[in-house]
Amino acid sequence: MNRRVVVTGASSGIGEATARRFAKHGWSVVAVARRADRLAVLAADTGVDTFVADITKQADVEALAAHLRALGPVHALVNNAGGAFGLASVEDSDAEDWMRMFEVNVVGTKRVTSALLPLLREGVVEGESASILMVTSIAAHVPYEGGSGYNAAKFAQHAMTAVLRLELAGEPIRVIEVAPGMVKTEEFALVRFGGDAAMADSVYDNVPDPLVADDIAETIVHSIELPPFVNIDLVTVKPVAQAAPHKMIRGELKVR
Ligand SMILES: NC(=O)c1ccc[n+]([C@@H]2O[C@H](COP(=O)([O-])OP(=O)(O)OC[C@H]3O[C@@H](n4cnc5c(N)ncnc54)[C@H](OP(=O)(O)O)[C@@H]3O)[C@@H](O)[C@H]2O)c1
Repeated sequence: MNRRVVVTGASSGIGEATARRFAKHGWSVVAVARRADRLAVLAADTGVDTFVADITKQADVEALAAHLRALGPVHALVNNAGGAFGLASVEDSDAEDWMRMFEVNVVGTKRVTSALLPLLREGVVEGESASILMVTSIAAHVPYEGGSGYNAAKFAQHAMTAVLRLELAGEPIRVIEVAPGMVKTEEFALVRFGGDAAMADSVYDNVPDPLVADDIAETIVHSIELPPFVNIDLVTVKPVAQAAPHKMIRGELKVR
């Protein structure tokens, strides 16, 4: 069977690695993001279908659904588009940054999920199940100083995921959450610090083996390729050097 997966935020980092890995596994992939130039490189490399959309814009999300309807059934949705803006305290952080984080991580994810659920239902054949996977974060589960709006948005995305699983109970649709810890992607920290490369690099300074995007892609693809009756509710994936968001070991790991 030709299985189709939609991956949002596929122009870089975890989403791009996930789109590439699904393509290697023989899935039909629809890669979604705002930057057409980066999606074009991905398409040229892998042959995946791409769609330019800003998930915070309802018209874009509706256009995506119309595009997918023309292609045929959808079997899996990976809600990965998201990110952090700033690392300031609750008191000092910019409310506009909070709005942007909620718009993309929470409301954008809700918009895409609502628009694609009818297509996911249509894609279910007997004995199979559809999959909706949310990429949240350990920040969706553990508060840390400076986490402020990102913690709040990711906690909200986690809550939405749990509610969705309850609401879809009784249908052959599984709802999976993958919560990564520190992943050294090209752009996550750069976006968080408004393009300040030195600040972004310092996040990963001296951290022995932070995760890379493909570690999360492997987890995502594995979770979705498990037998259709298996629902992995939550996978938390961290580097060994990270015991918690605020407990990161820098320097060599040594046996005591
Ligand atoms: N890296 C980490 O340490 C880490 C840890 C835990 C969780 N996460 C989560 O993992 C996900 C991916 O992170 P990443 O590290 O791969 O970050 P990234 O490299 O910055 O990728 C973010 C992706 O989301 C897309 N995107 C952002 N806003 C969008 C919008 N409004 N509409 C459509 N696409 C949008 C970006 O593409 P365009 O700019 O082209 O739209 C990009 O492809 C995020 O949800 C993030 O919160 C990351």
